[in-house]
Amino acid sequence: MKHSLPFHTGLITGASSGIGRAMACELAHRGIQKLILVSRNQEKLDELKSFITKINNIDVRCISLDLSEASSPEILLHTVQSWGWEVDCLVNNAGFAIRTEDEFNHPEKVQQMIQLMATSPLLLSQMFGKLMAEKNHGYILNVSSIVGGFPVSSTLTYAAIKRFMNAFSHALSYEWRPCKVFVTCLQPGATTSSFHQKNNFPVPKKWQKFFRPSEQIAKEGINGLIRKKRNVIPGWEYKILFFITHLIPHSWLFDFHKSCWRDRRDKICKKNS
Ligand SMILES: NC(=O)c1ccc[n+]([C@@H]2O[C@H](COP(=O)([O-])OP(=O)(O)OC[C@H]3O[C@@H](n4cnc5c(N)ncnc54)[C@H](OP(=O)(O)O)[C@@H]3O)[C@@H](O)[C@H]2O)c1
Repeated sequence: MKHSLPFHTGLITGASSGIGRAMACELAHRGIQKLILVSRNQEKLDELKSFITKINNIDVRCISLDLSEASSPEILLHTVQSWGWEVDCLVNNAGFAIRTEDEFNHPEKVQQMIQLMATSPLLLSQMFGKLMAEKNHGYILNVSSIVGGFPVSSTLTYAAIKRFMNAFSHALSYEWRPCKVFVTCLQPGATTSSFHQKNNFPVPKKWQKFFRPSEQIAKEGINGLIRKKRNVIPGWEYKILFFITHLIPHSWLFDFHKSCWRDRRDKICKKNS
């Protein structure tokens, strides 16, 4: 069942593809009035804007910005304020990942990951959230991941950043609930998007059936946000996994993940090279 929206102006980071794009379309279908789309790829944002404006009569603006740069959160805030727009729904979604073994040779990529997926969402949540809190009205959706809940062998820092996002979102939701600013942490499992291909993570055949469409993740995330849920884990198999991670030793989970995912993935990479 679709719920009507309790907010009118949304800002989505990482809107050019995958989950972020699906969120923009979902919000458009549900009748949001104003949307701000952010990513680095202006062309893709413009294409999405013309697609969305056909769905509904929405005022859409695009901002091409690299959120792995330290100055970007403030630039974003000032740009939106210069239009006189008041964001009451912030979606922190932009992200990428690199493999554990590549991290050691590319410290600059690790730094970009931290800036993009930890520092920027933290600052955006605080800067826009503060304005929302002053009005006693607002919604923040942080896109984390199921891998934030346990140690994984394939993406060391990515998983650690997502763990930080879980903890930050959780604490912030308690902090701001009295000011009627609601914070939801979305923790998807494997999702169909350009993420795995772009980041060079070939998916073992056996695992493809566990992938869920971006559109479904977006829908469940927005439903959870509207219902003011602190945590949303789409899919019954990932809900079970989340539950299990609290019951069994993490060394078992790490070994299981290594043999079932990383070792298979490495085989595919070797075959392809
Ligand atoms: N796919 C999965 O299996 C999965 C599972 C759990 C969680 N997630 C999380 O879901 C979120 C979205 O991922 P996705 O699956 O939709 O992947 P995706 O299709 O690769 O989308 C990633 C988005 O992030 C944007 N982005 C990347 N680097 C950026 C930068 N430096 N500055 C601004 N924007 C940037 C990209 O836009 P540009 O390239 O145009 O800048 C793109 O719009 C991520 O936070 C990811 O960690 C994904």
